[in-house]
Amino acid sequence: MELSSFIAVAVMAGLITITLAGNFYNDMDITFGSERAKILNGGQDLSLSLDRFSGSGFQSKHEYLFGRFDMQLKLVPGNSAGTVTTFYLSSQGAGHDEIDFEFLGNSSGNPYTIHTNVFAQGKGEKEQQFHLWFDPTTAFHTYTIVWNSHRIIFLIDNIPLRVFSNYEAYGVPYPKSQPMRVYASLWNADDWATQGGRVKTDWTKSPFIASYRNFNADANMVGVNPKFTTFGNNGQAWSTQGLDAAGRNRIRWVQSKYMIYNYCKDNTRFAGRLPAECKRPKLL
Ligand SMILES: *[C@@H]1O[C@H](CO)[C@@H](O)[C@H](O)[C@H]1NC(C)=O
Repeated sequence: MELSSFIAVAVMAGLITITLAGNFYNDMDITFGSERAKILNGGQDLSLSLDRFSGSGFQSKHEYLFGRFDMQLKLVPGNSAGTVTTFYLSSQGAGHDEIDFEFLGNSSGNPYTIHTNVFAQGKGEKEQQFHLWFDPTTAFHTYTIVWNSHRIIFLIDNIPLRVFSNYEAYGVPYPKSQPMRVYASLWNADDWATQGGRVKTDWTKSPFIASYRNFNADANMVGVNPKFTTFGNNGQAWSTQGLDAAGRNRIRWVQSKYMIYNYCKDNTRFAGRLPAECKRPKLL
């Protein structure tokens, strides 16, 4: 029996209860930076590096339409000013959809900024930014995007920090019909990323390295049979996932203590005409 059919049978029989994480060799293609992106440990680990000539990046071989995407990351340590590490989903072409996690580095001793955004049919401008309740450079932490037809949830170590709900009923576009790939990259943006571009990258500290581990997509894979990658032991729980009472408590804690920017509060930027979803009751 082939391994894949063995796994399918074993999953149906309930024999596999552990999460079988993906493998970077099977799941990803290096897209830029060539030897600066390294797959290590038989495909379990991947490191990206950035020097003064180039950054590096990778993308998933498959496209997905809804799912839960987990990635463990350890960010550039020390003086990471001007570096941007990313983990995001995006479709291609005009009017694209995108769901972003971006990690903006900082000078030593100053906190990273976690930048999130959602694009639907080419339109973004839905940023929320956070500081973290831990140091993201000393250990791996799990960053998760849950994307279903009802909502998008951003989580870190299973703690929800942001929910972007489907407000199509109020005329707000929502990503729901364009398949997306998973992308990750490490690049330089010292013209804007750190303290508005005032703090520049210290190239004497290069190469800068960010590490990725244990990618897992529990998702609806497009054009592949069987189309569901139900390797996670929660089956397709993501397809209806929302926040329960504990999740609502946790998101309130994160947003009250660690949120540093919310587009829905930026009256100046939108000249008093906040986007429609900002004026609706929160749907968690
Ligand atoms: C860097 O540190 C400063 C000072 O603590 C903080 O205001 C800022 O949000 C941090 N992040 C970035 C990306 O500038």
